[in-house]
Amino acid sequence: MKYLFLNHKMNVTKQEFLTYDQQFTNLYVDTVKACVFPTFTNIPNAKNIKLIGSQNVSSYRVGSYTGEVSAKQLKEENVSYCLVGHSERRNILHEDNQEIKEKIERLQEEGIIPVLCIGEKQQKDFEQTIKEQLSVLNDASKELIIAYEPVYSIGTGVVLENAEIEQSITWIKDYMEREFHKIYPVLYGGSVDDKNIGKLNEIGNLDGFLVGKASLDIEKAKKMMEELK
Ligand code: PGA
Repeated sequence: MKYLFLNHKMNVTKQEFLTYDQQFTNLYVDTVKACVFPTFTNIPNAKNIKLIGSQNVSSYRVGSYTGEVSAKQLKEENVSYCLVGHSERRNILHEDNQEIKEKIERLQEEGIIPVLCIGEKQQKDFEQTIKEQLSVLNDASKELIIAYEPVYSIGTGVVLENAEIEQSITWIKDYMEREFHKIYPVLYGGSVDDKNIGKLNEIGNLDGFLVGKASLDIEKAKKMMEELK
């Protein structure tokens, strides 16, 4: 079973999402766990998409936090997964490790599975960055998914060779086992699309993919689903 997580970012209008949701009905295959991550406003518009994720959550539980959405409110909308620490939020919106840690806790309190996004800005910084980003976890961390996305691959068309990705995933899994005595599923992301996902899926230790741009096109989503089955 492979994960196929589709991140719409801030790209889809209500009307576009309604069409997407309708076309999604015939897409499902048994062996792929497909989850769509729409913008907040589109979450209640999902009628046919079975698994819904959120792109963000507040680090606060409840109260006077204008513009925030809580984990409890996401739970009411049947959200199953939530991205945390995406590089766009870390780099553009200055989300730090403390905030990320609190968001993970809020989600786990509500039984929503956090998808912790990690990734280095430059290849040479891999180990240092990943250690620092994984420091938000501890032995007691509950169910969670890691999405490994090298920042230079996101939205750039730059995709590493399978051997390089496999090496990084092995390093991440070994590190988690050593430090936290747990191996969480690890997804890969960054310019994954319908053309390259088949080859990337040959990487043995990978549990699935987090896809941005290519997820917006329903035909591409369909092809990616087929490639993973
Ligand atoms: P991309 O985005 O597939 O457009 O590179 C991936 C992501 O940001 O998760």
